[in-house]
Amino acid sequence: MDLKIALLAGDGIGPEVIEQAVKVSDAIATKFNHSISWTPALTGAAAIDAVGDPYPEETHQVCLGADAVLFGAIGHPRFDNDPSAKVRPEQGLLKMRQKLGLFANVRPTFTFPSLLDKSPLKQERIEGTDLVFLRELTGGIYFGERGRLDDGNTAFDTCTYKREEIQRLAKKGFELAMTRSKKLCCVDKANVLESSRLWRETVQAMEKEYPEVEVSYEFVDAVAMRLVQWPNSYDVLITENLFGDILTDEASVISGSMGLMPSASVGTENALYEPIHGSFPQATGLGIANPLATVLSAAMMFEMSFGLIEEGALIRKVVDASLAEGVVTEDLKENGQKGNSTSEVGDYLVAQILG
Ligand code: IPM
Ligand code: MN
Repeated sequence: MDLKIALLAGDGIGPEVIEQAVKVSDAIATKFNHSISWTPALTGAAAIDAVGDPYPEETHQVCLGADAVLFGAIGHPRFDNDPSAKVRPEQGLLKMRQKLGLFANVRPTFTFPSLLDKSPLKQERIEGTDLVFLRELTGGIYFGERGRLDDGNTAFDTCTYKREEIQRLAKKGFELAMTRSKKLCCVDKANVLESSRLWRETVQAMEKEYPEVEVSYEFVDAVAMRLVQWPNSYDVLITENLFGDILTDEASVISGSMGLMPSASVGTENALYEPIHGSFPQATGLGIANPLATVLSAAMMFEMSFGLIEEGALIRKVVDASLAEGVVTEDLKENGQKGNSTSEVGDYLVAQILG
């Protein structure tokens, strides 16, 4: 198969982890007789520096012309402490999500048997955790009207959802639940928010189309608590943009390192794959960034965009091998032990694939 992939390395550790995912994907292509053409393009602070726009039109065209987008990370501290900055790297990410219509963010959380002791949570609580968040990604408070009143002394952000936006996300949730254990949790704050009541009403109305799926409705604050108490009681969770942002960071702790969890953002036409971690600016260029989340994002890309299930499975298998063998970056090493470098981990994965 010929795979055309847009490559957006982004900021901070983005380029380093992306390099490993490219190496691994190329090795997979060699092994399974595919050909991948990568087209790099600028995003984030790198794009602001080059052309003054964190998601330039040229980059958008590259993404539109590709079968899938592989993305590293976005963000630079130079902008974080400057509330007056007019353009921010993160705006590029939001613009990209919106312009590519990536309304569903698929964020799995699972545990690796060899890493159960790395989680801050008790082993017996997290064993067997295998859940997926579907976070709505192009609506809600992230894209609502915002502004200042009273000479700048009052600020507001609004959360707006249309029924159709909820329906298309929930449909993906029901469909995913049907391929898994047929359990779906709708996370909202329907005891307070009108937008949440629309979520609940909309999902309830869809239940009859999926009679086999057992749906629960839970308030976001309770989910935040249960997620770390009994993570393996969940399977597929659907939620709005901001709740999903917060809960998926929380959930990533279960697996033991933020450097491990991949994600996919999908719409009707386009799909983008990225690690859930950020640009980790302090680690830029040090060769200590964990590439596994990006490598596992590439696995999701093979599976979800191209239906190449065996290819994805082999990536997961060699990632498991690196964890079991302890060929890992310092975030996964015992205290004081030196970690393998980002590219050493990549090299190990490639050798395992081709070996
Ligand atoms: C994420 C990130 C982004 C978000 C930021 C960088 C805008 O935290 O992908 O979860 O809030 O969606
Ligand atoms: Mn986030």
